[in-house]
Amino acid sequence: MSTTVNTTVANFETPLKFAYWVPNVSGGLVVSTIEQRTSWDFDYNKKLARIAENSGFEYALTQTRYAASYGADKQHEATSFSLALLGATERLNIISAVHPGMWHPGVLAKFIITADHISGGRAAVNIVSGWLKDEFINFGLEWLEHDERYVRTEEFINVLRGLWTEQNYSQSGKYYNIKDFTLNPAPVDVPGRPHPEIFFGGNSTAAQAAAGRTADWYFSNGKDLEGFKDNIAGVRAAAATVNRTPKFGLNGFVIARGSEAEARDTLREIVEKAHRPAVEGFAAAVKEAGQSTKDGKGMWADSTFEDLIQYNDGFKTGLIGTPEQIAERIVEFKKIGVNLMLTAYLHFQEEVEAFGRDVLPIVRELEADLARANGTELNTALLPATNFEGAAL
Ligand SMILES: Cc1cc2nc3c(=O)[nH]c(=O)nc-3n(C[C@H](O)[C@H](O)[C@H](O)COP(=O)(O)O)c2cc1C
Repeated sequence: MSTTVNTTVANFETPLKFAYWVPNVSGGLVVSTIEQRTSWDFDYNKKLARIAENSGFEYALTQTRYAASYGADKQHEATSFSLALLGATERLNIISAVHPGMWHPGVLAKFIITADHISGGRAAVNIVSGWLKDEFINFGLEWLEHDERYVRTEEFINVLRGLWTEQNYSQSGKYYNIKDFTLNPAPVDVPGRPHPEIFFGGNSTAAQAAAGRTADWYFSNGKDLEGFKDNIAGVRAAAATVNRTPKFGLNGFVIARGSEAEARDTLREIVEKAHRPAVEGFAAAVKEAGQSTKDGKGMWADSTFEDLIQYNDGFKTGLIGTPEQIAERIVEFKKIGVNLMLTAYLHFQEEVEAFGRDVLPIVRELEADLARANGTELNTALLPATNFEGAAL
């Protein structure tokens, strides 16, 4: 049987969605001693989440980290932190990162259903397969070889989806054996959403294949336009074999300033003040990721010292300049298939609000022009509500 790869590069009617990284680990999102008015504590994050949902952001992504790494010596646990943020907000979808290998998928499925009910259908997960070997080894857990981690991940996601959508669900495989299980209640019935959304973070060839076959959303580390095209093609090819059409999210570190020179100066200062030993330690640890694969491709495989200062390669995406330049760049990514921009900042509260106020309106104008140029209209009914008066509570 032949399969056709979906070659549609972009959906011009649907507005881009925006997410931010929840700073639930200390040290901000760059490994640098530059001043950062970002805190990892809950009060800071509660206010940030409210600012974000009033500024046009639809998603927030909570990171999962158990051990000190890359200068982040303190961390809050992702699922409990996400649950608290859901309780503190009204519209924001909170995506909690989780490791297969740290959770049983049935326990997680149940946890997320409860979070979904508490929040009126706003719980989501980001399935991450892990790269920080010491977290697993020092917890006494098995550390699987790179591609084998994705075999387990794929089974894990199938269990989640099965338990969220079926009654008397059974699945037997190499890692999980579920027998005749029904979770009651089921997740909240949200129109157009068959179950809590499943994001997938990973870059290697094995990650792309597993994501394509199982995930609702594929999350990519920071990339330039060519790099992102490569990733999307790998995921789409795998998705086509099972008739799935995942959506795509891309990470980018935003430095929006009054002039391009000012934005570049900020980047220069971040790099000059890099926390060198922490970045070098991180560079050594990430060798367990893409570099450890047979084809040597994948996350951080070609990242320079400067790239690794933003630990998800966010500088590569190039969201650095004036609001106009950043908006134009974002729409270039939409043209090649990005559906969601995942963003990080130096000073989260101030810059998330400024992004909503200064960058998003230009993005929306450019998206409307793009839709018209392609013979259609931007569906403005899908745009999230904004409320700048209520942003800085
Ligand atoms: C957007 C995004 C978010 C991620 N979040 C986490 C996280 O919170 N915790 C974690 O341990 N790994 C996280 N990862 C790392 C991935 O799980 C994976 O280990 C990494 O992509 C390296 O694997 P690869 O070489 O197969 O791509 C994330 C990856 C991406 C792209």
